Amino acid sequence: MSRYLVQPVESVAGILRVPGDKSISHRALMLGGIAVGTTEVQGFLESEDCLATMRAMRALGVTVERPGPDEVRVRGVGLHGLKAPTQALDLGNSGTAMRLMTGLLAGQRFDSELIGDASLMKRPMERAAQPLRLMGAQIVTHGGRPPVRISGGPRLSGIDYALPVASAQVKSAILLAALYASGHTSVVEPAVTRDHTERMLLALGAEVDAVRGRVQLKPPRTLQACSLHVPGDFSSAAFFMVAGSIANGPGLTIEGVGINPTRTGLLDILALMGANLRLVRHRSAGAEPVADIEVRPAQLKGIEVPPHLVPLAIDEFPALFVAAACASGETLVTGAQELRVKESDRIAVMAEGLSALGVECEVLFDGLRVRGARDRAAFTGGRVDSHGDHRIAMSFVVASLRAKAAIEILDVANVATSFPNFGATARRAGLNVEELA
Ligand code: S3P
Repeated sequence: MSRYLVQPVESVAGILRVPGDKSISHRALMLGGIAVGTTEVQGFLESEDCLATMRAMRALGVTVERPGPDEVRVRGVGLHGLKAPTQALDLGNSGTAMRLMTGLLAGQRFDSELIGDASLMKRPMERAAQPLRLMGAQIVTHGGRPPVRISGGPRLSGIDYALPVASAQVKSAILLAALYASGHTSVVEPAVTRDHTERMLLALGAEVDAVRGRVQLKPPRTLQACSLHVPGDFSSAAFFMVAGSIANGPGLTIEGVGINPTRTGLLDILALMGANLRLVRHRSAGAEPVADIEVRPAQLKGIEVPPHLVPLAIDEFPALFVAAACASGETLVTGAQELRVKESDRIAVMAEGLSALGVECEVLFDGLRVRGARDRAAFTGGRVDSHGDHRIAMSFVVASLRAKAAIEILDVANVATSFPNFGATARRAGLNVEELA
């Protein structure tokens, strides 16, 4: 079990790049795999989560080549070309891989079984299984959790489904199954969630419409391969947006970051807190908008985070709680109960880590109240346990910018699930982080 030892430093500076977007990389493999022709992917995220999806697609008969760093070539087998796997598909730590795969496999003619690591085996899967069953899929979970067993063969029908939770994974699972259904499918979201699946389906020639929270898909005859450019992952850039805000120094520029508006809630939240962030050099990477993000130090102030921004920043709360601890006054996050079923219970685990570093916080069933620092050293230093949650491990590295003493962060190997070179990137920005066995 590896750990980080992070010594306090006060400033960050430089121009950085973060690796490719995790959500988009998963989708490129899955949708490329069932397209007709070869999908060339640039900027692919070679992280443990996406490699698990790559192995799964290969086990389903798709040839995936890696011609260069951050590049993959997916030789699509067409909508009906996947083959039965010879064993259970192990999706590691990735909830996205498991929920989207459940949708993709629901419409196949063969049986399949999905498993994962200890964290994934505890995560709720009925949220995806239930709507798929309404479409005619035969899916069995183990008390709501993996293993997920999918029986092949049923003819699926389109549905009109209102999502009970704002979840891009469930929406995407339904849309993947809908590719194999007779009739249209429509999914209504209770709040806007990331729309990478819809954008990529459109790029591959499917008819997808999204109007006022209702996404509609007409089952296509085929999907046509195309080249895909994966932007830098906004969720990985988030650690450096917070770092540049709470540190001294000239600040940071993070180049080539995806700024899809269904992902950038953290920009709005940090702006409300008084952060100094600027998006420059707007451009696009295929279907996705991209910009460079400039961040300068600022005195943040505590706020009540508007609940409508929660789904738009759902993966950024660990980093945001660190920012909140450095802000003047109190920050209140509510309506975020989804945080309890991520790679860890991010409300409980962040509260435990913040408290271990001397930050006052109050756990709510659906959020956290964080009392901001009264002086520059917001954190005492000490030992925190990330409970194997990559985003929590990276967030406490950022906390070292306002710590009195070293922070030791336990169980950090899973940082490689989303940000394989995080340590090196953080050191380039000026952080003093050592990875120990
Ligand atoms: C993701 C959707 C979100 C997010 C996850 C990636 C996706 O999960 O937290 O990291 O790629 O669709 P939910 O759909 O559970 O909100």
